[in-house]
Amino acid sequence: MRISVIGCGYLGAVHAACMAKLGHEVVGIDLDERKIRELSAGRAPFFEPELEELLLDVQGTGRLKFSSDISEASDASVHFICVGTPQKKGENAADLRFVDAAVNSLLPHISAHDVVVGKSTVPVGTAARLAEVVTNHEPEAHLVWNPEFLREGHAVSDTLHPDRFVYGVADGSEDHPAVAILDSLYAVPLSEGTPRLVADLPTAELVKTAANSFLATKISFINAMAELCEAAGADVTRLADAIGLDDRIGRKFLQAGIGFGGGCLPKDIRAFMARAGELGADQALTFLREVDAINMRRRTRVVELTRELCGDGLLGKRITVLGAAFKPESDDVRDSPALSIAAQLQLQGAVVTVTDPKAIDNAAKRFPELQYDHDTESALANAHAVLLLTEWKEYRDLDPHYLRNIVSSPRVLDGRNVLDAAKWRAAGWHYRGLGRP
Ligand code: UGA
Repeated sequence: MRISVIGCGYLGAVHAACMAKLGHEVVGIDLDERKIRELSAGRAPFFEPELEELLLDVQGTGRLKFSSDISEASDASVHFICVGTPQKKGENAADLRFVDAAVNSLLPHISAHDVVVGKSTVPVGTAARLAEVVTNHEPEAHLVWNPEFLREGHAVSDTLHPDRFVYGVADGSEDHPAVAILDSLYAVPLSEGTPRLVADLPTAELVKTAANSFLATKISFINAMAELCEAAGADVTRLADAIGLDDRIGRKFLQAGIGFGGGCLPKDIRAFMARAGELGADQALTFLREVDAINMRRRTRVVELTRELCGDGLLGKRITVLGAAFKPESDDVRDSPALSIAAQLQLQGAVVTVTDPKAIDNAAKRFPELQYDHDTESALANAHAVLLLTEWKEYRDLDPHYLRNIVSSPRVLDGRNVLDAAKWRAAGWHYRGLGRP
């Protein structure tokens, strides 16, 4: 099939490459010329494991191209909307400017029987509104919503082998003409047994925000337990292991630590609350306010714990922060808890050096006032305290015996509860976890 993908960020670039891998003719379109140049040269404009190999692989087939010219979408019959929906400045609601602009710019290039497929995360009701915009322009075209559930750091495999597909169509029926089109688009993963559900438009939109809200709630639940464990002298990691063995609960997303960040969970729960308010259902989601508050409290807690760890205040203390990305295997620093903690410590008088295998350039653009070092060992030299805030494998594997001689004082705060506390203590470190004795 011939498809266009509007928006080539973390979602669209991966989607375009994966659709070409599945055998389709794809044009990825973005206004950002630099991104288009990089992608056209087979280079990923951001770090995502497996993406660069995939780009080179599919570009060799001639099935994938990138352009900044929206008229290139004219040859396609399926158009994916993959642009961002960030949080509005000063408000909780989602900013839909990019989605609206993408659909409007696409209109002149839509023909009868084309399908516009929304993948961006949008407030419920957006799809129905945009469907009207599309059919007012071309009555024989369709707009459907097909939310994306990929995780950064696993985006390629999540796109090629998703847990499920959700198709939101106007009448919610299997007989809707777009269902067969999406089925043939996703024929390969469907043939591997990927479940797919057809729903009406608002249900499909809500599936996405409900899923992210559930994940955020799970993380904040275990972080609330971490607060309790700290007060009671208990260990949240053992508690998570034990409750996680109940398969109704499950151990995944029960990793207590500095909390969730990134371009999705924080802004999605806020946009969800804002939308619920508009719909007169705000009471249903007041718990998400608490989920958000627990999450933000983690960051202040770590600043306080670092102060305690340093003994006599933060002023002039050299602190090394391991990790800037909001999670490992990503260079994304949007709402990164690690960076927000680093910036807070610096504001309170500490001298903070941040290191990260992939995210330093992005971090330095956001927080130029912090010091950065690409080399882990030199970042750690003479540190008064070490904070592990993003659990990259190379930080989990650090040798406490060796590092003991590099730092000025062997104090470590394990913000993700991933280090072997006994091993670090045995090597002479003062170890602090979160929610652990
Ligand atoms: C999230 C969802 O997991 C995806 O399903 C969804 O498609 C995506 O948002 C989106 O809406 O586009 P992502 O933001 O890539 O994916 O990252 P997650 O793996 O969900 O992690 C989010 C944050 O939670 C990270 O900061 C991570 O460190 C933190 N986290 C995760 C914890 O603190 N504890 C955990 O147990 C798990």
